[in-house]
Amino acid sequence: MIIQANGIEVDFGSVKALDGVSLSVADGEVRGLLGPNGAGKTTLVNVLTTLLTPTAGTATVDGLDVCTQSREVRSRIGLAGQYAAVDNLLTGRENLEIVGRLYQLPKAVAKARADEALERLSLTDAGDRQVRTYSGGMRRRLDLGASLVGRPKVLILDEPTTGLDPRTRIELWEFLRELVGEGTTVLLTTQYLEEADELADQISVIDSGKLIAEGTADELKAQMGGDLLVARPADRELVAQVAEIVSGLTGSEARISETGEVSAPVSNKVETLVRVASALKDAGIQISEIAVQQPTLDDVFLSLTGDDTSTDEESSVIQ
Ligand SMILES: Nc1ncnc2c1ncn2[C@@H]1O[C@H](COP(=O)(O)OP(=O)(O)OP(=O)(O)O)[C@@H](O)[C@H]1O
Ligand SMILES: [Mg+2]
Repeated sequence: MIIQANGIEVDFGSVKALDGVSLSVADGEVRGLLGPNGAGKTTLVNVLTTLLTPTAGTATVDGLDVCTQSREVRSRIGLAGQYAAVDNLLTGRENLEIVGRLYQLPKAVAKARADEALERLSLTDAGDRQVRTYSGGMRRRLDLGASLVGRPKVLILDEPTTGLDPRTRIELWEFLRELVGEGTTVLLTTQYLEEADELADQISVIDSGKLIAEGTADELKAQMGGDLLVARPADRELVAQVAEIVSGLTGSEARISETGEVSAPVSNKVETLVRVASALKDAGIQISEIAVQQPTLDDVFLSLTGDDTSTDEESSVIQ
């Protein structure tokens, strides 16, 4: 395990930002740390990157203790924080060179690494411009470039794509995949389920300072109980009647959403779909929508973090 955290607690006065978080990330893995605002993501990142001493618990990166061997830990990691830590008055290239010097690289090496990072993040043309002239996306890329200058074994990214347009986000994902292909371990926090689904091998879901679930995207989705048949009558008055038919044919009690959608879990999806459709037709009920849906990570996330009142608040940990 290249990152190992055991029972991390962080108190800010009366606020318990982390409440006993344990995490194991394998060498070469991409781990997504997924959670809503205020969940404790940045706090955990700060502990792992030696910026914050936990109230309780221990953590190691590459076998080094983040509290007692912080200097060594810092030489192994690259961090791109939630807010870009670049100097606006310097050029992109100068920012990167300074980071190289902070890693105590010889001047020539720092220069070469700065060039390389600019190149990899498609910033070569803008490299000699002051950062204050950069767009948000360019700034974000430069920040990521800065985290790479020290050639870290472990890259820790706090919401790397928040605020980026979809195209820039996809470019960044591609770039991260390249790095992972070269063997870098990545821990990234995100509020985007899509991002965790795209990039992460394993996802840890955090809410109110606690890890509430862990697993691959598929495992988390399977937790939601598989496929769901969804039907919506054209006439909303008829939802109860539709629910009755759906319950009868699926063998499980159908749920009616606030938006007038009737849903029930199904196992034999195609056959059930056809039977429900024809039963509704026989009953003379016009349907505006009928489908079998796989749960999305959004469903999982909402049900786990308890924002969706229609689902049971079950907090279970896979593994
Ligand atoms: N320096 C601090 N002093 C007091 N409270 C803090 C401090 N830093 C964080 N907190 C609190 O700790 C909790 C976790 O904050 P944290 O920044 O780790 O959340 P986050 O998951 O990164 O959220 P976001 O998605 O908004 O970045 C929040 O309730 C926050 O208000
Ligand atoms: Mg944060």
